[in-house]
Amino acid sequence: MKSKHISNSPNDTVEIAKNFAKNLQGSETILLQGELGAGKTLFVKSVAKSLGCNDAVSSPTFTIMQTYSDGKFPLYHFDLYRIKNILELDNIGFFDYIEETGIKFIEWPEIILETITKISHIIITIKKLDKDKREIIIEENEGE
Ligand SMILES: Nc1ncnc2c1ncn2[C@@H]1O[C@H](COP(=O)(O)OP(=O)(O)OP(=O)(O)O)[C@@H](O)[C@H]1O
Ligand SMILES: [Mg+2]
Repeated sequence: MKSKHISNSPNDTVEIAKNFAKNLQGSETILLQGELGAGKTLFVKSVAKSLGCNDAVSSPTFTIMQTYSDGKFPLYHFDLYRIKNILELDNIGFFDYIEETGIKFIEWPEIILETITKISHIIITIKKLDKDKREIIIEENEGE
Protein backbone atom coordinates (compact mmCIF):
# COMPACT_ATOMS: atom_id res chain seq x y z
CA MET A 1 0.00 0.00 0.00
CA LYS A 2 1.22 3.48 -0.83
CA SER A 3 -0.16 6.87 0.13
CA LYS A 4 0.90 10.39 -0.73
CA HIS A 5 0.31 13.47 1.40
CA ILE A 6 1.09 17.15 1.04
CA SER A 7 2.06 19.10 4.14
CA ASN A 8 2.08 22.89 4.06
CA SER A 9 3.29 23.46 7.61
CA PRO A 10 4.87 21.68 10.57
CA ASN A 11 1.37 21.39 11.99
CA ASP A 12 0.13 19.57 8.88
CA THR A 13 2.95 17.08 9.35
CA VAL A 14 1.88 16.57 12.97
CA GLU A 15 -1.65 15.77 11.73
CA ILE A 16 -0.41 13.36 9.05
CA ALA A 17 1.72 11.62 11.68
CA LYS A 18 -1.24 11.41 14.06
CA ASN A 19 -3.36 9.70 11.41
CA PHE A 20 -0.52 7.34 10.64
CA ALA A 21 -0.25 6.47 14.34
CA LYS A 22 -3.90 5.38 14.46
CA ASN A 23 -3.16 2.38 12.22
CA LEU A 24 -0.11 1.10 14.06
CA GLN A 25 -0.31 -2.40 15.52
CA GLY A 26 2.69 -2.14 17.82
CA SER A 27 5.67 -3.81 16.25
CA GLU A 28 6.24 -2.02 12.95
CA THR A 29 9.66 -1.14 11.60
CA ILE A 30 9.49 2.27 9.95
CA LEU A 31 12.26 3.83 7.88
CA LEU A 32 12.33 7.60 7.40
CA GLN A 33 14.08 9.01 4.37
CA GLY A 34 14.60 12.64 3.47
CA GLU A 35 17.24 15.35 3.54
CA LEU A 36 18.40 17.31 6.59
CA GLY A 37 15.52 19.29 8.01
CA ALA A 38 12.89 17.43 5.98
CA GLY A 39 10.84 16.71 9.09
CA LYS A 40 11.73 13.12 9.99
CA THR A 41 12.22 13.81 13.70
CA LEU A 42 9.09 15.93 13.87
CA PHE A 43 7.15 13.01 12.37
CA VAL A 44 8.49 10.51 14.92
CA LYS A 45 7.88 12.85 17.86
CA SER A 46 4.33 13.46 16.67
CA VAL A 47 3.62 9.73 16.47
CA ALA A 48 5.13 9.26 19.93
CA LYS A 49 2.96 12.01 21.33
CA SER A 50 -0.21 10.65 19.81
CA LEU A 51 0.56 7.22 21.30
CA GLY A 52 0.63 8.93 24.68
CA CYS A 53 4.40 8.96 25.10
CA ASN A 54 5.78 11.82 27.13
CA ASP A 55 9.33 11.17 28.13
CA ALA A 56 12.02 9.85 25.87
CA VAL A 57 14.67 8.00 27.79
CA SER A 58 18.09 8.54 26.36
CA SER A 59 20.51 5.66 26.47
CA PRO A 60 24.29 6.19 26.71
CA THR A 61 24.13 6.16 22.95
CA PHE A 62 21.39 8.77 23.10
CA THR A 63 22.29 10.40 19.82
CA ILE A 64 21.61 7.05 18.19
CA MET A 65 18.61 5.72 20.11
CA GLN A 66 15.82 7.11 22.24
CA THR A 67 13.26 4.93 23.94
CA TYR A 68 9.70 5.86 24.86
CA SER A 69 8.16 3.32 27.20
CA ASP A 70 5.25 5.28 28.63
CA GLY A 71 2.89 5.13 25.65
CA LYS A 72 0.44 2.67 24.10
CA PHE A 73 3.39 0.71 22.63
CA PRO A 74 7.10 0.80 23.36
CA LEU A 75 8.71 3.08 20.78
CA TYR A 76 12.33 3.12 19.70
CA HIS A 77 13.71 6.01 17.70
CA PHE A 78 17.04 5.40 15.98
CA ASP A 79 19.09 8.02 14.17
CA LEU A 80 21.77 6.27 12.14
CA TYR A 81 23.31 9.46 10.74
CA ARG A 82 26.65 8.87 12.43
CA ILE A 83 26.75 5.08 12.15
CA LYS A 84 29.40 3.97 9.72
CA ASN A 85 28.76 0.27 9.25
CA ILE A 86 26.63 -2.71 10.16
CA LEU A 87 29.13 -3.94 12.76
CA GLU A 88 28.90 -0.68 14.68
CA LEU A 89 25.13 -0.97 14.53
CA ASP A 90 25.20 -4.55 15.76
CA ASN A 91 27.39 -3.47 18.69
CA ILE A 92 24.73 -1.08 20.00
CA GLY A 93 22.21 -3.94 19.94
CA PHE A 94 20.24 -2.60 17.01
CA PHE A 95 19.33 -6.00 15.60
CA ASP A 96 18.11 -7.23 18.99
CA TYR A 97 15.77 -4.24 19.22
CA ILE A 98 14.46 -4.85 15.71
CA GLU A 99 13.20 -8.25 16.77
CA GLU A 100 11.45 -6.96 19.88
CA THR A 101 7.87 -5.86 20.20
CA GLY A 102 7.56 -2.13 19.80
CA ILE A 103 7.48 0.51 17.12
CA LYS A 104 10.90 1.02 15.57
CA PHE A 105 11.54 4.32 13.76
CA ILE A 106 14.80 4.65 11.88
CA GLU A 107 16.17 7.94 10.55
CA TRP A 108 18.99 7.79 7.98
CA PRO A 109 18.35 4.07 7.25
CA GLU A 110 20.61 3.89 4.16
CA ILE A 111 23.09 1.44 5.68
CA ILE A 112 20.39 -1.09 6.55
CA LEU A 113 18.31 -0.86 3.36
CA GLU A 114 19.61 -4.15 2.03
CA THR A 115 19.29 -6.00 5.34
CA ILE A 116 15.80 -4.70 5.99
CA THR A 117 14.26 -6.11 2.80
CA LYS A 118 14.01 -9.44 4.61
CA ILE A 119 11.46 -8.19 7.10
CA SER A 120 8.23 -6.31 6.51
CA HIS A 121 8.67 -2.57 6.95
CA ILE A 122 7.20 0.81 6.12
CA ILE A 123 9.17 3.48 4.28
CA ILE A 124 8.26 7.12 4.81
CA THR A 125 9.88 9.52 2.38
CA ILE A 126 9.67 13.23 3.12
CA LYS A 127 10.57 15.54 0.28
CA LYS A 128 11.19 19.26 0.80
CA LEU A 129 9.20 21.08 -1.87
CA ASP A 130 9.55 24.55 -0.40
CA LYS A 131 10.50 26.21 2.88
CA ASP A 132 7.41 24.90 4.66
CA LYS A 133 6.01 22.51 2.06
CA ARG A 134 6.66 18.78 2.11
CA GLU A 135 5.53 15.73 0.15
CA ILE A 136 5.18 12.72 2.42
CA ILE A 137 5.00 9.27 0.85
CA ILE A 138 4.15 6.28 3.00
CA GLU A 139 4.80 2.87 1.52
CA GLU A 140 4.33 -0.58 3.04
CA ASN A 141 6.71 -3.34 2.04
CA GLU A 142 6.31 -7.06 2.64
CA GLY A 143 9.34 -8.98 3.83
CA GLU A 144 10.98 -11.48 1.52
N1 LIG B 1 5.65 21.06 6.42
C1 LIG B 1 6.63 20.81 7.32
N2 LIG B 1 6.74 19.58 7.86
C2 LIG B 1 7.73 19.30 8.74
N3 LIG B 1 8.65 20.19 9.16
C3 LIG B 1 8.58 21.43 8.66
C4 LIG B 1 7.58 21.80 7.73
N4 LIG B 1 7.76 23.10 7.41
C5 LIG B 1 8.82 23.52 8.10
N5 LIG B 1 9.32 22.54 8.87
C6 LIG B 1 10.49 22.67 9.76
O1 LIG B 1 11.51 21.80 9.31
C7 LIG B 1 12.24 21.32 10.43
C8 LIG B 1 12.24 19.81 10.43
O2 LIG B 1 13.15 19.39 11.42
P1 LIG B 1 13.40 17.87 11.79
O3 LIG B 1 14.39 17.87 12.89
O4 LIG B 1 12.11 17.18 12.02
O5 LIG B 1 14.06 17.34 10.44
P2 LIG B 1 14.87 15.98 10.21
O6 LIG B 1 14.39 15.47 8.90
O7 LIG B 1 14.74 15.09 11.38
O8 LIG B 1 16.36 16.50 10.06
P3 LIG B 1 17.74 15.75 10.39
O9 LIG B 1 18.08 14.95 9.15
O10 LIG B 1 18.69 16.86 10.59
O11 LIG B 1 17.56 14.88 11.59
C9 LIG B 1 11.60 21.89 11.68
O12 LIG B 1 12.31 23.05 12.07
C10 LIG B 1 10.20 22.25 11.19
O13 LIG B 1 9.62 23.30 11.91
MG1 LIG C 1 16.15 14.18 12.65
